Amino acid sequence: MSEGGLFALTEEHEMIRQAARDFAQKEIAPIAAEYDESGEFPSKTIRKMGEMGFMGIEVPEEYGGAGMDTLSYVLALEEICKADAAHGTIMSVNNSLFCYGILRFGTEDQKHTYLKAVASGQAIGAYSLTEPMSGSDAGTMRSRAVRDGDFYVLNGRKSWVTSGPVADYVVVFMLTDPEKKHKGVTAFIVDAKTPGFIRGKKEPKLGIRASATSELVFEDCRVPVSCRLGEEGEGFKIAMTVLDAGRIGIATQALGLSEAAYEAALAYAREREAFGHKIGEFQGISFKLADMKTRIEASRLLIYNAAMAKQRAKQTGERFNTEAAMAKLFASETAMFVTHAALQIHGGIGYSKELPIERYFRDAKITEIYEGTSEIQRLVIARSELGLH
Ligand code: CAA
Repeated sequence: MSEGGLFALTEEHEMIRQAARDFAQKEIAPIAAEYDESGEFPSKTIRKMGEMGFMGIEVPEEYGGAGMDTLSYVLALEEICKADAAHGTIMSVNNSLFCYGILRFGTEDQKHTYLKAVASGQAIGAYSLTEPMSGSDAGTMRSRAVRDGDFYVLNGRKSWVTSGPVADYVVVFMLTDPEKKHKGVTAFIVDAKTPGFIRGKKEPKLGIRASATSELVFEDCRVPVSCRLGEEGEGFKIAMTVLDAGRIGIATQALGLSEAAYEAALAYAREREAFGHKIGEFQGISFKLADMKTRIEASRLLIYNAAMAKQRAKQTGERFNTEAAMAKLFASETAMFVTHAALQIHGGIGYSKELPIERYFRDAKITEIYEGTSEIQRLVIARSELGLH
Protein backbone atom coordinates (compact mmCIF):
# COMPACT_ATOMS: atom_id res chain seq x y z
CA MET A 1 0.00 0.00 0.00
CA SER A 2 1.42 3.41 -0.97
CA GLU A 3 1.79 5.92 1.82
CA GLY A 4 1.39 9.35 0.24
CA GLY A 5 3.64 9.48 -2.82
CA LEU A 6 3.39 13.26 -3.18
CA PHE A 7 4.98 13.88 0.15
CA ALA A 8 8.65 13.10 0.59
CA LEU A 9 8.96 12.23 4.25
CA THR A 10 12.16 13.11 6.07
CA GLU A 11 14.20 10.55 7.97
CA GLU A 12 12.73 11.96 11.20
CA HIS A 13 9.19 11.41 9.86
CA GLU A 14 10.01 7.84 8.87
CA MET A 15 11.49 7.22 12.31
CA ILE A 16 8.50 8.43 14.29
CA ARG A 17 6.10 6.55 12.02
CA GLN A 18 8.08 3.33 12.46
CA ALA A 19 8.35 3.82 16.23
CA ALA A 20 4.59 4.40 16.49
CA ARG A 21 3.84 1.45 14.20
CA ASP A 22 6.04 -0.93 16.20
CA PHE A 23 4.58 0.25 19.49
CA ALA A 24 0.98 0.13 18.26
CA GLN A 25 1.25 -3.35 16.78
CA LYS A 26 3.16 -4.79 19.75
CA GLU A 27 1.47 -3.09 22.70
CA ILE A 28 -1.97 -1.90 21.56
CA ALA A 29 -3.32 -4.21 18.83
CA PRO A 30 -3.26 -7.32 21.07
CA ILE A 31 -5.32 -5.66 23.84
CA ALA A 32 -7.70 -3.53 21.76
CA ALA A 33 -10.59 -6.03 21.66
CA GLU A 34 -10.38 -6.73 25.40
CA TYR A 35 -10.49 -3.02 26.33
CA ASP A 36 -13.28 -2.41 23.82
CA GLU A 37 -15.30 -5.14 25.50
CA SER A 38 -14.66 -4.00 29.09
CA GLY A 39 -14.71 -0.24 28.41
CA GLU A 40 -11.82 0.09 30.85
CA PHE A 41 -9.43 3.03 30.42
CA PRO A 42 -6.06 1.69 29.15
CA SER A 43 -3.87 3.53 31.71
CA LYS A 44 -0.86 1.27 31.25
CA THR A 45 -0.47 1.74 27.49
CA ILE A 46 -1.28 5.44 27.73
CA ARG A 47 1.49 5.84 30.30
CA LYS A 48 3.90 4.03 27.98
CA MET A 49 2.81 6.28 25.10
CA GLY A 50 3.78 9.23 27.30
CA GLU A 51 7.22 7.69 27.84
CA MET A 52 7.57 7.29 24.06
CA GLY A 53 6.86 11.02 23.61
CA PHE A 54 3.51 10.45 21.87
CA MET A 55 1.41 12.57 24.25
CA GLY A 56 2.96 15.92 23.33
CA ILE A 57 4.58 15.42 19.94
CA GLU A 58 4.58 19.06 18.81
CA VAL A 59 5.35 20.55 22.20
CA PRO A 60 8.93 21.88 22.49
CA GLU A 61 11.22 19.74 24.64
CA GLU A 62 11.59 22.52 27.24
CA TYR A 63 7.87 22.01 28.02
CA GLY A 64 8.06 18.23 28.20
CA GLY A 65 7.19 17.41 24.59
CA ALA A 66 8.96 15.70 21.70
CA GLY A 67 9.56 18.96 19.77
CA MET A 68 8.46 17.59 16.39
CA ASP A 69 6.27 19.00 13.59
CA THR A 70 2.58 18.54 12.78
CA LEU A 71 3.23 15.93 10.09
CA SER A 72 5.14 13.83 12.67
CA TYR A 73 2.11 14.05 14.95
CA VAL A 74 -0.21 12.91 12.16
CA LEU A 75 2.06 10.03 11.15
CA ALA A 76 2.31 8.72 14.70
CA LEU A 77 -1.40 9.13 15.43
CA GLU A 78 -2.32 7.32 12.21
CA GLU A 79 -0.38 4.25 13.39
CA ILE A 80 -1.91 4.30 16.88
CA CYS A 81 -5.43 4.60 15.42
CA LYS A 82 -4.80 1.76 13.00
CA ALA A 83 -4.28 -0.47 16.04
CA ASP A 84 -7.01 1.07 18.19
CA ALA A 85 -9.06 4.22 17.65
CA ALA A 86 -9.82 4.55 21.40
CA HIS A 87 -6.13 4.97 22.23
CA GLY A 88 -6.07 7.41 19.32
CA THR A 89 -8.80 9.60 20.80
CA ILE A 90 -6.98 9.89 24.11
CA MET A 91 -3.76 10.78 22.29
CA SER A 92 -5.45 13.26 19.96
CA VAL A 93 -7.28 15.17 22.70
CA ASN A 94 -4.15 15.27 24.85
CA ASN A 95 -1.97 16.57 22.00
CA SER A 96 -4.28 18.91 20.19
CA LEU A 97 -7.17 19.97 22.39
CA PHE A 98 -5.09 20.38 25.53
CA CYS A 99 -1.39 20.88 24.69
CA TYR A 100 -1.87 22.99 21.57
CA GLY A 101 -4.16 25.42 23.41
CA ILE A 102 -1.76 25.96 26.31
CA LEU A 103 1.23 26.22 23.99
CA ARG A 104 -0.50 28.81 21.81
CA PHE A 105 -2.37 30.84 24.42
CA GLY A 106 -0.79 30.00 27.79
CA THR A 107 1.54 32.06 29.95
CA GLU A 108 5.08 30.90 30.65
CA ASP A 109 3.97 29.76 34.12
CA GLN A 110 1.03 27.79 32.69
CA LYS A 111 3.35 26.11 30.20
CA HIS A 112 5.72 25.06 32.96
CA THR A 113 2.99 23.88 35.30
CA TYR A 114 0.37 22.22 33.10
CA LEU A 115 1.89 21.69 29.68
CA LYS A 116 5.04 20.02 31.00
CA ALA A 117 3.03 17.46 32.97
CA VAL A 118 0.56 16.67 30.17
CA ALA A 119 2.95 16.74 27.19
CA SER A 120 5.31 14.36 28.96
CA GLY A 121 2.45 11.96 29.64
CA GLN A 122 2.68 12.22 33.44
CA ALA A 123 -0.79 13.77 33.53
CA ILE A 124 -3.81 13.61 31.23
CA GLY A 125 -5.44 16.66 29.67
CA ALA A 126 -9.03 17.25 28.56
CA TYR A 127 -11.06 19.96 26.82
CA SER A 128 -14.57 20.88 27.83
CA LEU A 129 -16.79 23.05 25.64
CA THR A 130 -20.06 21.18 25.02
CA GLU A 131 -23.04 21.41 27.38
CA PRO A 132 -26.30 19.44 27.53
CA MET A 133 -28.10 22.23 25.60
CA SER A 134 -25.14 23.57 23.62
CA GLY A 135 -23.38 21.32 21.11
CA SER A 136 -22.93 22.47 17.50
CA ASP A 137 -24.07 25.97 18.51
CA ALA A 138 -21.18 26.32 20.92
CA GLY A 139 -21.75 30.03 21.52
CA THR A 140 -24.94 29.31 23.47
CA MET A 141 -23.25 27.85 26.56
CA ARG A 142 -24.69 28.67 30.00
CA SER A 143 -21.87 27.80 32.43
CA ARG A 144 -20.74 30.85 34.40
CA ALA A 145 -17.45 32.06 35.84
CA VAL A 146 -17.70 35.01 38.22
CA ARG A 147 -14.65 36.97 39.34
CA ASP A 148 -14.18 37.14 43.11
CA GLY A 149 -10.94 38.95 44.03
CA ASP A 150 -8.01 36.80 42.92
CA PHE A 151 -10.33 33.91 42.03
CA TYR A 152 -13.06 32.95 39.61
CA VAL A 153 -16.00 30.92 40.85
CA LEU A 154 -17.08 28.35 38.25
CA ASN A 155 -20.59 26.88 38.04
CA GLY A 156 -22.16 24.76 35.33
CA ARG A 157 -22.54 21.38 33.67
CA LYS A 158 -20.45 20.21 30.74
CA SER A 159 -20.99 17.09 28.65
CA TRP A 160 -19.20 14.67 26.33
CA VAL A 161 -15.77 15.35 27.76
CA THR A 162 -13.20 12.95 26.33
CA SER A 163 -10.98 11.68 29.19
CA GLY A 164 -13.36 13.44 31.65
CA PRO A 165 -13.31 10.50 34.10
CA VAL A 166 -9.50 10.42 34.29
CA ALA A 167 -8.16 13.85 33.34
CA ASP A 168 -5.81 15.68 35.71
CA TYR A 169 -6.30 19.06 34.04
CA VAL A 170 -9.17 20.35 31.94
CA VAL A 171 -9.41 23.41 29.70
CA VAL A 172 -12.99 24.58 30.24
CA PHE A 173 -14.98 27.38 28.60
CA MET A 174 -17.43 29.50 30.59
CA LEU A 175 -19.30 32.78 30.29
CA THR A 176 -17.78 35.65 32.22
CA ASP A 177 -20.08 38.16 30.53
CA PRO A 178 -23.35 36.54 29.37
CA GLU A 179 -24.63 39.75 27.74
CA LYS A 180 -21.81 39.60 25.21
CA LYS A 181 -22.69 36.04 24.13
CA HIS A 182 -19.67 34.39 22.41
CA LYS A 183 -17.56 37.49 23.07
CA GLY A 184 -18.21 36.94 26.79
CA VAL A 185 -16.65 33.43 26.87
CA THR A 186 -13.43 32.88 28.85
CA ALA A 187 -11.17 29.81 29.04
CA PHE A 188 -9.76 28.34 32.27
CA ILE A 189 -7.35 25.54 33.09
CA VAL A 190 -8.85 23.61 35.99
CA ASP A 191 -6.94 21.17 38.19
CA ALA A 192 -9.24 18.18 38.77
CA LYS A 193 -8.30 18.20 42.47
CA THR A 194 -10.00 21.59 42.97
CA PRO A 195 -13.00 21.36 45.34
CA GLY A 196 -16.22 21.78 43.37
CA PHE A 197 -14.85 19.93 40.32
CA ILE A 198 -17.09 16.89 40.06
CA ARG A 199 -16.86 14.09 37.52
CA GLY A 200 -20.33 13.23 36.25
CA LYS A 201 -21.70 10.04 34.78
CA LYS A 202 -19.50 8.08 32.41
CA GLU A 203 -21.17 7.67 29.02
CA PRO A 204 -21.81 4.16 27.71
CA LYS A 205 -20.84 4.37 24.04
CA LEU A 206 -21.24 2.52 20.73
CA GLY A 207 -17.55 2.79 19.88
CA ILE A 208 -14.13 4.02 21.08
CA ARG A 209 -15.26 2.35 24.30
CA ALA A 210 -11.85 2.32 26.02
CA SER A 211 -11.73 6.10 25.77
CA ALA A 212 -13.55 7.40 28.85
CA THR A 213 -16.17 10.10 28.26
CA SER A 214 -18.19 11.88 30.92
CA GLU A 215 -20.04 14.93 32.12
CA LEU A 216 -18.22 17.41 34.33
CA VAL A 217 -20.04 19.43 36.95
CA PHE A 218 -18.70 22.64 38.47
CA GLU A 219 -20.18 23.61 41.81
CA ASP A 220 -18.71 26.81 43.25
CA CYS A 221 -15.36 25.64 41.95
CA ARG A 222 -12.84 28.39 42.86
CA VAL A 223 -9.83 28.71 40.59
CA PRO A 224 -7.10 31.34 40.89
CA VAL A 225 -6.94 34.08 38.25
CA SER A 226 -3.60 32.58 37.18
CA CYS A 227 -5.61 29.66 35.74
CA ARG A 228 -7.34 31.85 33.17
CA LEU A 229 -6.18 30.94 29.66
CA GLY A 230 -5.95 34.12 27.59
CA GLU A 231 -7.92 37.23 28.42
CA GLU A 232 -11.54 37.54 29.47
CA GLY A 233 -13.73 37.31 26.36
CA GLU A 234 -11.09 35.50 24.28
CA GLY A 235 -12.46 32.06 25.12
CA PHE A 236 -14.58 31.45 22.03
CA LYS A 237 -11.70 32.23 19.68
CA ILE A 238 -9.42 29.97 21.72
CA ALA A 239 -12.03 27.19 21.61
CA MET A 240 -12.35 27.49 17.81
CA THR A 241 -8.61 27.73 17.15
CA VAL A 242 -7.94 24.69 19.28
CA LEU A 243 -10.74 22.73 17.59
CA ASP A 244 -9.12 23.40 14.21
CA ALA A 245 -6.08 21.50 15.49
CA GLY A 246 -8.30 18.83 17.06
CA ARG A 247 -10.09 18.24 13.76
CA ILE A 248 -6.82 17.26 12.08
CA GLY A 249 -6.43 14.65 14.83
CA ILE A 250 -9.92 13.24 14.30
CA ALA A 251 -9.38 13.15 10.53
CA THR A 252 -6.23 11.15 11.22
CA GLN A 253 -8.12 8.81 13.51
CA ALA A 254 -10.58 8.21 10.67
CA LEU A 255 -7.68 7.54 8.30
CA GLY A 256 -6.13 4.97 10.65
CA LEU A 257 -9.47 3.20 10.98
CA SER A 258 -9.99 3.21 7.20
CA GLU A 259 -6.54 1.76 6.59
CA ALA A 260 -7.02 -1.02 9.11
CA ALA A 261 -10.40 -1.98 7.64
CA TYR A 262 -9.15 -1.74 4.04
CA GLU A 263 -6.09 -3.90 4.64
CA ALA A 264 -8.25 -6.58 6.28
CA ALA A 265 -10.76 -6.47 3.43
CA LEU A 266 -8.02 -6.67 0.78
CA ALA A 267 -6.43 -9.70 2.45
CA TYR A 268 -9.82 -11.40 2.77
CA ALA A 269 -10.70 -10.70 -0.89
CA ARG A 270 -7.45 -12.38 -1.92
CA GLU A 271 -8.13 -15.53 0.12
CA ARG A 272 -11.85 -16.14 0.36
CA GLU A 273 -13.38 -18.22 -2.42
CA ALA A 274 -16.93 -18.39 -3.75
CA PHE A 275 -18.36 -19.89 -6.92
CA GLY A 276 -14.91 -21.29 -7.75
CA HIS A 277 -13.07 -17.93 -7.63
CA LYS A 278 -11.33 -15.69 -5.13
CA ILE A 279 -13.97 -13.12 -4.24
CA GLY A 280 -11.58 -10.29 -5.23
CA GLU A 281 -11.98 -11.47 -8.83
CA PHE A 282 -15.63 -10.43 -8.81
CA GLN A 283 -16.26 -6.88 -9.92
CA GLY A 284 -18.76 -6.39 -7.08
CA ILE A 285 -15.84 -6.74 -4.65
CA SER A 286 -12.93 -5.36 -6.67
CA PHE A 287 -14.68 -2.07 -7.50
CA LYS A 288 -15.46 -1.64 -3.80
CA LEU A 289 -11.75 -2.09 -3.05
CA ALA A 290 -10.83 0.46 -5.73
CA ASP A 291 -13.20 3.03 -4.27
CA MET A 292 -11.98 2.34 -0.73
CA LYS A 293 -8.33 2.77 -1.73
CA THR A 294 -8.98 5.96 -3.70
CA ARG A 295 -10.93 7.62 -0.90
CA ILE A 296 -8.26 6.64 1.64
CA GLU A 297 -5.51 8.21 -0.45
CA ALA A 298 -7.61 11.37 -0.96
CA SER A 299 -8.16 11.56 2.82
CA ARG A 300 -4.45 11.18 3.43
CA LEU A 301 -3.62 14.04 1.06
CA LEU A 302 -6.21 16.34 2.66
CA ILE A 303 -4.84 15.49 6.11
CA TYR A 304 -1.20 16.05 5.15
CA ASN A 305 -2.25 19.32 3.52
CA ALA A 306 -4.03 20.42 6.72
CA ALA A 307 -1.00 19.36 8.78
CA MET A 308 1.22 21.54 6.63
CA ALA A 309 -1.21 24.46 6.90
CA LYS A 310 -1.12 24.10 10.69
CA GLN A 311 2.67 23.91 10.64
CA ARG A 312 2.80 27.16 8.61
CA ALA A 313 0.35 28.79 11.01
CA LYS A 314 2.90 28.39 13.81
CA GLN A 315 4.90 31.14 12.07
CA THR A 316 2.16 33.20 10.46
CA GLY A 317 -0.71 32.83 12.94
CA GLU A 318 -3.04 32.29 9.95
CA ARG A 319 -6.15 30.19 10.35
CA PHE A 320 -6.17 26.66 8.97
CA ASN A 321 -9.85 26.07 9.74
CA THR A 322 -10.92 25.32 6.15
CA GLU A 323 -8.09 22.84 5.54
CA ALA A 324 -8.84 21.11 8.85
CA ALA A 325 -12.60 21.01 8.17
CA MET A 326 -12.13 19.54 4.67
CA ALA A 327 -9.78 16.88 6.00
CA LYS A 328 -12.12 15.91 8.84
CA LEU A 329 -15.23 15.93 6.66
CA PHE A 330 -13.75 13.76 3.94
CA ALA A 331 -11.73 11.40 6.13
CA SER A 332 -14.60 10.71 8.54
CA GLU A 333 -17.12 10.03 5.78
CA THR A 334 -14.48 7.84 4.13
CA ALA A 335 -14.07 5.90 7.38
CA MET A 336 -17.82 5.19 7.42
CA PHE A 337 -17.75 4.15 3.76
CA VAL A 338 -14.63 1.98 4.11
CA THR A 339 -15.58 0.22 7.36
CA HIS A 340 -19.08 -0.45 5.99
CA ALA A 341 -17.64 -1.89 2.76
CA ALA A 342 -15.01 -3.92 4.66
CA LEU A 343 -17.74 -5.48 6.80
CA GLN A 344 -19.81 -6.26 3.71
CA ILE A 345 -16.82 -7.89 1.96
CA HIS A 346 -16.25 -10.09 5.02
CA GLY A 347 -19.93 -11.09 5.22
CA GLY A 348 -20.92 -12.98 8.38
CA ILE A 349 -17.43 -13.19 9.86
CA GLY A 350 -17.17 -9.40 9.62
CA TYR A 351 -20.23 -9.11 11.88
CA SER A 352 -18.63 -11.39 14.45
CA LYS A 353 -16.49 -10.23 17.38
CA GLU A 354 -13.96 -12.87 16.27
CA LEU A 355 -12.50 -10.16 13.98
CA PRO A 356 -11.92 -6.43 14.62
CA ILE A 357 -14.01 -5.36 11.59
CA GLU A 358 -17.20 -4.74 13.57
CA ARG A 359 -15.17 -2.64 16.06
CA TYR A 360 -13.75 -0.52 13.24
CA PHE A 361 -17.32 -0.02 11.97
CA ARG A 362 -18.58 1.04 15.43
CA ASP A 363 -15.54 3.24 16.10
CA ALA A 364 -15.78 5.05 12.75
CA LYS A 365 -19.18 6.63 13.45
CA ILE A 366 -17.97 9.05 16.11
CA THR A 367 -15.51 10.66 13.70
CA GLU A 368 -18.51 12.16 11.85
CA ILE A 369 -19.84 13.60 15.12
CA TYR A 370 -17.31 14.83 17.66
CA GLU A 371 -15.14 17.92 17.39
CA GLY A 372 -17.77 19.26 14.99
CA THR A 373 -20.26 17.15 13.02
CA SER A 374 -19.96 16.70 9.26
CA GLU A 375 -22.69 19.33 8.95
CA ILE A 376 -20.59 21.83 10.94
CA GLN A 377 -17.52 21.06 8.79
CA ARG A 378 -19.61 21.80 5.67
CA LEU A 379 -20.78 25.04 7.28
CA VAL A 380 -17.18 26.07 8.06
CA ILE A 381 -16.02 25.28 4.51
CA ALA A 382 -19.00 26.98 2.84
CA ARG A 383 -18.73 30.13 4.97
CA SER A 384 -15.08 30.38 4.14
CA GLU A 385 -15.71 29.93 0.40
CA LEU A 386 -18.53 32.47 0.42
CA GLY A 387 -16.52 34.95 2.50
CA LEU A 388 -19.19 34.93 5.20
CA HIS A 389 -16.86 35.32 8.16
N1 CAA B 1 -10.48 30.39 14.59
C1 CAA B 1 -10.49 31.59 15.23
N2 CAA B 1 -11.64 32.30 15.41
C2 CAA B 1 -12.77 31.78 14.93
C3 CAA B 1 -12.82 30.55 14.24
C4 CAA B 1 -11.61 29.85 14.09
N3 CAA B 1 -11.57 28.65 13.48
N4 CAA B 1 -14.10 30.28 13.88
C5 CAA B 1 -14.83 31.33 14.30
N5 CAA B 1 -14.01 32.23 14.93
C6 CAA B 1 -14.41 33.53 15.50
C7 CAA B 1 -15.06 34.41 14.42
O1 CAA B 1 -14.09 35.14 13.70
C8 CAA B 1 -15.95 35.31 15.25
O2 CAA B 1 -15.18 36.33 15.81
P1 CAA B 1 -15.77 37.82 15.99
O3 CAA B 1 -16.93 37.71 16.91
O4 CAA B 1 -14.63 38.59 16.56
O5 CAA B 1 -16.17 38.27 14.62
C9 CAA B 1 -16.39 34.39 16.39
O6 CAA B 1 -15.42 33.33 16.48
C10 CAA B 1 -17.75 33.80 16.16
O7 CAA B 1 -17.73 33.13 14.92
P2 CAA B 1 -19.05 32.70 14.15
O8 CAA B 1 -19.96 33.88 14.02
O9 CAA B 1 -18.65 31.98 12.92
O10 CAA B 1 -19.70 31.73 15.25
P3 CAA B 1 -20.95 30.79 15.20
O11 CAA B 1 -21.69 30.96 16.48
O12 CAA B 1 -21.70 30.99 13.92
O13 CAA B 1 -20.31 29.33 15.26
C11 CAA B 1 -19.30 27.33 14.45
C12 CAA B 1 -19.32 28.86 14.44
C13 CAA B 1 -18.26 26.96 13.39
C14 CAA B 1 -20.62 26.71 14.09
C15 CAA B 1 -18.84 26.87 15.86
O14 CAA B 1 -19.81 27.11 16.83
C16 CAA B 1 -18.47 25.39 15.89
O15 CAA B 1 -17.38 25.01 15.49
N6 CAA B 1 -19.39 24.52 16.40
C17 CAA B 1 -19.08 23.12 16.64
C18 CAA B 1 -18.53 22.95 18.02
C19 CAA B 1 -17.74 21.67 18.18
O16 CAA B 1 -16.97 21.29 17.31
N7 CAA B 1 -17.89 21.04 19.33
C20 CAA B 1 -17.16 19.87 19.67
C21 CAA B 1 -16.67 20.00 21.08
S1 CAA B 1 -15.32 19.00 21.59
C22 CAA B 1 -15.87 17.41 21.61
O17 CAA B 1 -16.43 16.97 20.66
C23 CAA B 1 -15.65 16.54 22.79
C24 CAA B 1 -14.28 16.09 23.06
O18 CAA B 1 -13.85 15.95 24.20
C25 CAA B 1 -13.41 15.69 21.94
